[in-house]
Amino acid sequence: MDTKIIGMDEENIDMQAIELAGSIIKSGGLVAFPTETVYGLGGDALNSSSSKKIYAAKGRPSDNPLIIHIVEMSALSKIVRKIPKAAYQLAERYWPGPLTMIFEKAECVPLETTGGLDTVAVRMPSNQIAREFIRASGGYVAAPSANRSGRPSPTIAKYVIEDLAGRIDMIIDGGQADIGLESTIIDLTGSEPVILRPGYITEEMLRQVIGDVEADQTIMEEHTSQAPKAPGMKYKHYAPRGNLIIVEGEAEAVSAYINERLSAFRKEGKRTGVIATDETVASYLADSVKSAGERGQEEQAAKCLFRILREFDDEKIEVIYAEGFRQKGVGQAVMNRLLKAAGHQVIRL
Ligand code: TXA
Ligand code: MG
Repeated sequence: MDTKIIGMDEENIDMQAIELAGSIIKSGGLVAFPTETVYGLGGDALNSSSSKKIYAAKGRPSDNPLIIHIVEMSALSKIVRKIPKAAYQLAERYWPGPLTMIFEKAECVPLETTGGLDTVAVRMPSNQIAREFIRASGGYVAAPSANRSGRPSPTIAKYVIEDLAGRIDMIIDGGQADIGLESTIIDLTGSEPVILRPGYITEEMLRQVIGDVEADQTIMEEHTSQAPKAPGMKYKHYAPRGNLIIVEGEAEAVSAYINERLSAFRKEGKRTGVIATDETVASYLADSVKSAGERGQEEQAAKCLFRILREFDDEKIEVIYAEGFRQKGVGQAVMNRLLKAAGHQVIRL
């Protein structure tokens, strides 16, 4: 399949290309598009054959449900059975934006879109290209992250092209994603709201609006008796090809430990990498040392983490050490993705 690639700017949207993208979706095709979190792989959410195509293009297990992207509150009432009060409150504060809410699904939403579940995940993105594209597509776009299953979510179009060119109809290149990590997911179908995936909208930010929220136990821990409630969270994720190990502890001890290990690996002829911070980036001896921004500025790490993981693959790095991040605010989402990428290998000094 020939994949059209069209670039545009959020401030200068190419409406002709958007109309074309919309007509592709309406006729059952697939288009990758930018959002403020990560790039999405879009198809018509109300067309079961489009959802099947999404799973095939990603190589994704079909029991892993998709998020439906909308632009207006009126669209929400069409695809869910009821809208709890908490959803109105959260939408008022955080939509459009990086928050996904889970509802009981309405009849018109095919089970292919929800991975067989009778609940449905819904998000209203804020990126203007995404919004125009969803409008042009009829208002209901199912979109997982636009990566091949298991790989880090793409934050720039280059990685969408790498994973999906030749497998989908069109890719809209809208530059770098602002946030860099996928949306926060909150389940509103139970007696208490539960966070299923941490993101830029933090637990504290949710509490400010709706009071008590729980966090799914499987978010930060590896071995729990529970299965994750977001089916996607059980799959191996984000892993770079190299072996990634997180080291936590006092800053100087961490860099001393990592340097010692690096020197051992270099002697074995292994290609080494480090995920450091601006403060420590000069202190490491490795084939590739990358800073995830200033220490304590977890938004910066959120923005570049997935790109860094992909760059290590491009550079054929075999062993990667990462400094740990504070699990405060968006740092919780950063550590959630880093822990998954590392297969929960953590050394605590
Ligand atoms: O920021 C984002 O959310 C991005 C952009 C493109 O919007 N999308 C995204 O989609 O990250 P995806 O498919 O990569 O991740 C969706 C997650 C999966 O872990 C899935 O299992 C969970 O949401 N999910 C979807 N529907 C669900 C449902 N009904 N119940 C529980 N979890 C659900
Ligand atoms: Mg994904």
